[in-house]
Amino acid sequence: MTLRPLLTLLLGALLLPAAAQKFDGLALTPPMGWNSWNTFACDIDETTVKETADLFVKLGLKEAGYQYIVVDDGWMEMRRDPETLRLVPCHKKFPHGMKPVVDYVHGQGLRFGIYNCAGVLTCGGYPGTRGYEFLDAKQYAEWGVDFLKYDWCSTGSGNGGLPYQQEARASYTLMRDALRQAGRPVLFNICEWGDNQPWLWAKDVGHSWRISGDIACCWDCELSYGGWSSFGIWPIIRMRQGIRQYSGPGHWNDFDMMEVGNGLSPAEDRTHFAMWCMLASPLFLGNDIRKMSQETLKLVTNKELIAIDQDPLGIQAFRFINDAGYELWVKPLDKGQWALAFVNMGEGTLDIDYDWRRFNIKDGTFGRSVDFHKEAFDVRDCVNHNDADDTGKNFKHTLQKHDIVVLRLTPKR
Ligand code: GLA
Repeated sequence: MTLRPLLTLLLGALLLPAAAQKFDGLALTPPMGWNSWNTFACDIDETTVKETADLFVKLGLKEAGYQYIVVDDGWMEMRRDPETLRLVPCHKKFPHGMKPVVDYVHGQGLRFGIYNCAGVLTCGGYPGTRGYEFLDAKQYAEWGVDFLKYDWCSTGSGNGGLPYQQEARASYTLMRDALRQAGRPVLFNICEWGDNQPWLWAKDVGHSWRISGDIACCWDCELSYGGWSSFGIWPIIRMRQGIRQYSGPGHWNDFDMMEVGNGLSPAEDRTHFAMWCMLASPLFLGNDIRKMSQETLKLVTNKELIAIDQDPLGIQAFRFINDAGYELWVKPLDKGQWALAFVNMGEGTLDIDYDWRRFNIKDGTFGRSVDFHKEAFDVRDCVNHNDADDTGKNFKHTLQKHDIVVLRLTPKR
């Protein structure tokens, strides 16, 4: 090789930008917040967002760890601005534009999230980001957006009837790079429903990825809409038990925004919330905060359950027992502690009488185990806030139908 091409090559390598990457350190524990979709669908507006932000502070949600206020689909006009090609906030719903709303949320010490889609249209039929990645990312940065939920509608033949098929990894990586270039740290929430197994490739692309189709406010149901389904609480929990090894600090399996407070029974709400904590899922409230009952508020601000979700190890629970009339889920915690959740899946009341020494626990995936013949633990009931003795004695508890009890085991000194 002569000197000239060699020099060009070397110079080229020097001038190439360093490989883009996601913003690190934004989700070392599962992100927490509120999202408009489950209650408001596309009917979201400035007043609702501001009132929700106010209540985050007033009701102690912020103090409990909820940070992000996320505006889901429906916030835009149906067309981009013809001159600038920028997205236009809906004039009726956001009459002052988006920046003042973002500023307001920031003024409450909270963070602001927004929604768009990797395809040509969002799932609600509004302008998608395909082809406008860098423009949209810049616009979000100008507004001060801290979180982007990025959906997967209208991305191809099986999805939007288009004569091509977008590639998921490339589409999400492109948006990650656009966010990076825009320069403002943004938590990137991948929402392609698990169709393309993002847990296998998205660790360096996003901070969380949905693992299922949309959640529905029911216990054990699948609602089909010809081609796609939404799922109740239990189908989502059970759907992907083989992927817990891919979730952890900075990159979470996302079990979807919650339906707590939206019509399940009190026991089912408890189980829903506590299981999301056991699964180390992002915790996004999906109810109308302005109409929340005291009971719901108490549940979603249960600090002992939230601490299990936010445990620094970030290990997702696994199902340990499934054939005893109840399900027992186990989550290794920091400092040799463990969380255990007993769930009554039956339709009647259940008396639990659990002999700790009957089963030792082993989590082969994360290399953790307990031998109850050799180790003793204090047992704390994190749902009812009482000390439930220790592992020297059987754990006895009565569970109503669909109810849960979550225990924190701490090694005895
Ligand atoms: C998809 C997502 C939902 C919601 C809607 C908005 O269905 O999975 O969470 O964002 O789109 O249209």
